[in-house]
Amino acid sequence: MTVDTSERKCQGADCGKEAGSLQCPTCLKLGYHDSYFCSQDCFKKNWNQHKSLHQMIKDRAQNANGTYNPFPTFSFTGPVRPVYPLSPMRTVPKSIRHPDWAETGIPKAEQRLSRTKIDLLDAKGQQAMRKVCRLAREVLDITAAELRPGITTDYLDEVCHRACVERDSYPSPLNYYHFPKSLCTSPNEVICHGIPDQRVLLDGDILNLDISLYHEGYHADLNETYYIGEKAKADPDAVKVVETTRECLDKAIEIVKPGTPIREFGKAIEEHAKSKGCKIVTTWGGHGINTEFHPPPWIPHYGKNKAVGVCKPGMTFTIEPILALGNPKEVYWPDDWTNATVDGKWTAQFEHTLLVTETGVEVLTARKDDSPGGPIPMPTATEGAV
Ligand code: MF3
Ligand code: CO
Repeated sequence: MTVDTSERKCQGADCGKEAGSLQCPTCLKLGYHDSYFCSQDCFKKNWNQHKSLHQMIKDRAQNANGTYNPFPTFSFTGPVRPVYPLSPMRTVPKSIRHPDWAETGIPKAEQRLSRTKIDLLDAKGQQAMRKVCRLAREVLDITAAELRPGITTDYLDEVCHRACVERDSYPSPLNYYHFPKSLCTSPNEVICHGIPDQRVLLDGDILNLDISLYHEGYHADLNETYYIGEKAKADPDAVKVVETTRECLDKAIEIVKPGTPIREFGKAIEEHAKSKGCKIVTTWGGHGINTEFHPPPWIPHYGKNKAVGVCKPGMTFTIEPILALGNPKEVYWPDDWTNATVDGKWTAQFEHTLLVTETGVEVLTARKDDSPGGPIPMPTATEGAV
């Protein structure tokens, strides 16, 4: 695509000339891409007046309590905003085993893997996966127990991080491709990989907590979407997308056993999503998980996919469908992680780590009787109206 430069007018007061490619560097830094000038001269002449625009952009970003929106000129697709500053990067004691990206930000070993060779774990590996997955479930439940209107997602990150360290575990997301936090928090229209920050949870939000642990050389990965406050549970759209996504994951897990082709999961998920009027986010998929965080196979969540391979005893992988109430296409925030729906409509996600057994499946990250969250019924019309 090319840009029609004849549309660009010089921003100099009363100038009105066509502008070339000269842009104000301060505006660019602030993320504002519409400050063109016809010449250095005109830019200089108009500097005193123009620079008030910089203050205006900064003022607009500033909240009353000292927090701010780091991307004030970005066209957000819904009401959720990043709330900075991010807290400093948390640390993990040296005595806990770190994955290779802890130091460099790059998962070197994972990048070297063949994309087609799927690991089968022996009894010892399976025991190690059971252990890390049990710990990951504990960490998710401890973090989710804190959920209520008024807390920040950064507080949840602190709780998650501490619970990981207490269990001699490294929070796998931390510094993975330079991800800055120990868990992903994705509210409302955020599809996934939201960064915990100073945003306060509101009564009526839904929030996904995505937690991964690295313990004694093995990874676990699970996530759930939760209702924040009673208002969310009375919102038919929120309940529709959250409960349908939960059911989609359950339906996919039902068919996991030796011999099931990996491509079948997407079919099961799509059939149920469609029957409830939800769309599938196709960009993200499930993945193998073992001594690596995201080894093969990649597991699509949509029908008519061409994934190769069948389930075999000893395979460990995740299924983690994301459903949308509207257009399932994503738009990235300038933090390069957070991706939100293009239309601002809400999404939900659920994830388990699974082990294929001789006869079926073991849900390694299964809920416990006292786990926070869990399914709720569709609100009745009167409840919804209160
Ligand atoms: N837990 C995510 C998954 O389900 C991955 C998060 S990695 C991060 O695969 F870097 F984005 F945090
Ligand atoms: Co995952």
